[in-house]
Amino acid sequence: MKKVLAVLLAGSMAAALAACGSSKSTDSAAQSSAAQTSTTEATGASTEAGGAATEAAAAATEAAAQQTDLSGSKYLSDGVMTVALNSTFPPFEYLGDGSDDFSAITSNPTQVTGFDVALVNEIGTRLGVKVEIEDMDFDGIIAAIGTKADVAATGMTINDERKKSVNFSDPYYDATQAVLLTKDSSIATEDDLKKASSIGVQQGTTGDNIARGINDAATVSVKSFNQAVADLMNGKNDAVIVDQSTGEAFLSQNPDKLKLLPGSQFKFDTEQYGIAMPKDDDVMLGAVNGALEAIKADGTYDTLVEKYINNYEAQ
Ligand code: ARG
Repeated sequence: MKKVLAVLLAGSMAAALAACGSSKSTDSAAQSSAAQTSTTEATGASTEAGGAATEAAAAATEAAAQQTDLSGSKYLSDGVMTVALNSTFPPFEYLGDGSDDFSAITSNPTQVTGFDVALVNEIGTRLGVKVEIEDMDFDGIIAAIGTKADVAATGMTINDERKKSVNFSDPYYDATQAVLLTKDSSIATEDDLKKASSIGVQQGTTGDNIARGINDAATVSVKSFNQAVADLMNGKNDAVIVDQSTGEAFLSQNPDKLKLLPGSQFKFDTEQYGIAMPKDDDVMLGAVNGALEAIKADGTYDTLVEKYINNYEAQ
């Protein structure tokens, strides 16, 4: 609770400082119209105002870092947050070209980009920790939390089974499973899936569970979503069960060949993504939730959704 408050305080300080910066620039505008004779002076004043705004932003980040006391965190007191993810999940995580400006991320060997990567970069900035990305198989991620990684941010659905092993942050995204098909497919209902001979899924996902529940014998689980979709395109799979937004991303890569049917048509439940963390670190849980709250409150969350999810472009 104390930590949450600290992050919130830091957030409002940032707003106050930013407001301060902008009133300065109004001042300098007034100054410049008064002193119409000296253009040089006016330019100087507005440059100064710009500098003040940058300083204010830097001070806000610093304040957030200083006020979030992570010394009691078992996993983050070393100043580094290691993040596990599986990079075959656009638009949340996929291989990028390394052009992102993720200032808190100090290690990202496979140059993963996407919504979750941008989100943990923001969390790292606000908590004042460095972020290191660990790209791995999805089905190994729960076991890696607390050992190879401090957290997982990988479009992971919050569910009771996983809660036995890990803590989840507050939900950060609503999702549902959907069914990706080739355009000419006649599959349209759960009954059709029962008759399918090969349903592709990523191993260890909620889609994997759903497929097994409907048609265990036909479920083909593979390590990567890219593989499951490739096997749909080459005719090995009749369908792929995949999260809606990710299905849309794959669809946008192959709009002529694929179609995506919503989970509601198959009576799939709704899901929510959370950041998974070890069970034995309440300080980290509070800090991550506090950062998430601030990210939502100041509009950063919406900006990231717009940039990475709504404007995802086929690679
Ligand atoms: N939301 C699904 C789940 O939690 C799929 C997540 C897959 N994520 C990934 N990065 N491959 O099981």
